[in-house]
Amino acid sequence: MRVSKAVVPAAGLGTRFLPATKAQPKEMLPVVDRPAIHYIAEEVDQCGISDLLIVTGRGKRAIEDHFDRAIELERLLEETGNPRLSELQQLLDRLQVFYVRQGTPRGLGHAIACAERHIDNEDFAVLLPDDLYLSDEPALGQLIRVAEELDAPVVAVVEVPKADIGRYGVVAVREQVSPGVYRVLDMVEKPAPEDAPSQFGVVGRYVLPPEIFAHLKRTAPGAGGEIQLTDALKALCEARPVYAVTVVGERYDIGEPLGLLRAQISFALRRPDLADGVREFLAEVTNGL
Ligand code: G1P
Repeated sequence: MRVSKAVVPAAGLGTRFLPATKAQPKEMLPVVDRPAIHYIAEEVDQCGISDLLIVTGRGKRAIEDHFDRAIELERLLEETGNPRLSELQQLLDRLQVFYVRQGTPRGLGHAIACAERHIDNEDFAVLLPDDLYLSDEPALGQLIRVAEELDAPVVAVVEVPKADIGRYGVVAVREQVSPGVYRVLDMVEKPAPEDAPSQFGVVGRYVLPPEIFAHLKRTAPGAGGEIQLTDALKALCEARPVYAVTVVGERYDIGEPLGLLRAQISFALRRPDLADGVREFLAEVTNGL
């Protein structure tokens, strides 16, 4: 596998964050001082990928504005010696960001299918913007390393508590092929806890071959009446070996308010300019409890 393109589905409605997401995309909600999707773009860049396709939809224009130049603002900042946009400008010099719109939201599988023409018969990475990682090696980089070594598609997994397993795509695996790497035997989207084949939930990062598009075309609506990427991956597993990699690092599910708050705090604690203040405040509020 050779990955030089990444796809980020960002057409979801963000209903769990209403009313915050009534007039802005959930991918633009800030984690400290960067929108969530900015961290995803940084992860793509850290993996040496320069072609990023974002699958958007109605009401998502702020994402395009974020990854675009803002000449007047840049000029003003330059005049006043304010460097706050320079890191983003450098990122944009390295990344080329493309967009395709998913007219009707018919599920994650359908969003990925919208990328077919852009991917043009190449291997590619998928990053779900609801999953943010704090890790030494980028989460996607950990997958790409295994996908290259084994020349096979790879999905990221973590062990999740049984009570939460019904929120995930779940893999059935054979024994480890190397530390943290398992051959996937089967996959099921959002099973009832008693039907889950394991406690390995799929967590927002995939390295996929272009054949996935043919499987997606044959995939009927599944869990929640949506076209599920998991169902197309199940078919892919039957056709060729697919592997699951347990990601080393901390994962934050920012698709729900408590997860976003947890990410806010953890990311702020990694910031030298904020860590002390956050620690003091946390001690203050927890003492008062
Ligand atoms: C999606 C995928 C699911 C995966 C989850 C977390 O579900 O369909 O397989 O486990 O993301 O990455 P969603 O949370 O969008 O319902």
